Amino acid sequence: MGSLFESRGHSAKINALASKAEQDEPDVMTSSIGKSITRVRGRQRNETHWCVADIEWQHIDHARIRDNLALYYVVTGASFVETAADLYTSNLVEFFPDPEAQQWLINYWQPEELQHGLALRTYVETVWPELDWASGYQQFLAEYSQLCTVEALESSRALEMVARCVIEAGTSTFYSTLQRISDEPVLKTLTGLIAQDEVSHYNHFRHFFEAYQQQEHIGRMGVVHSLYKRLGEVESEDAYIGLKHAWLMRHPGQPFSDVQFQAISLTLRPLMMAHYPYRMALKMLLRPLALNRTLVKYSMPVLELAARRLMFRKH
Ligand SMILES: [Fe+2]
Ligand SMILES: [Fe+2]
Repeated sequence: MGSLFESRGHSAKINALASKAEQDEPDVMTSSIGKSITRVRGRQRNETHWCVADIEWQHIDHARIRDNLALYYVVTGASFVETAADLYTSNLVEFFPDPEAQQWLINYWQPEELQHGLALRTYVETVWPELDWASGYQQFLAEYSQLCTVEALESSRALEMVARCVIEAGTSTFYSTLQRISDEPVLKTLTGLIAQDEVSHYNHFRHFFEAYQQQEHIGRMGVVHSLYKRLGEVESEDAYIGLKHAWLMRHPGQPFSDVQFQAISLTLRPLMMAHYPYRMALKMLLRPLALNRTLVKYSMPVLELAARRLMFRKH
């Protein structure tokens, strides 16, 4: 792990990339899917793409983060989910037989998700070295892996791509929120970089959705149903299991129940509510519906108000 802590002196580049994430929005589509994929991929895989060794771990301001339990829970929970990316990648590769989707999933998407996991793990292990991340992850994986089966995927390839869009919209807005919340500079930089990658993943999945949609012709209500269904699952499963095992790392051997989960949620909810990029989330979720753009534009203030009231509400 030692080499991970070596600075390559890329701070200006890294900070510029990270700060860009807050303004990033889904790309405007072009008519050629292949051309668009190449354009997005070109932006990701060039000399400006970051790697774990670029992060200046030695500059972590420990005094700002060490006692911040809210950020401990979300960063650790996220590190678990990201590190488990290889589980659901193999499912997806099995589900999508065409070489273009397979190649992107294996060569671009999975390595980037695993890099997110490694970077977040490195952050957790650097700030809270007394906690056993590896052991916590093994316990998380035992529970989480039961959710990641081929049977859990959607019935159609176009709808599974919609579901993937929901997940990437969720992760990109989640990391954008963390970037806004964090007052620790290295975490702010790292979450900005990850947010930018997640927007790029969203764009890829949406391109693939549009390609499959040309073959499957799923009706708008079918897409709405898939969006709605996956929105509920994102919150209830990944977040719960991630936070649970982050808590268990600090309380080994103790029982975890809804009481502990509610206590963590009570701490996190006001922070997330105050900093969540509602408009960005709405744009990403509405795009697969191919609605009239003028209608979306003029409806956005009302939708944003509704989203502010509905999201993060107590269940
Ligand atoms: Fe990720
Ligand atoms: Fe992603």
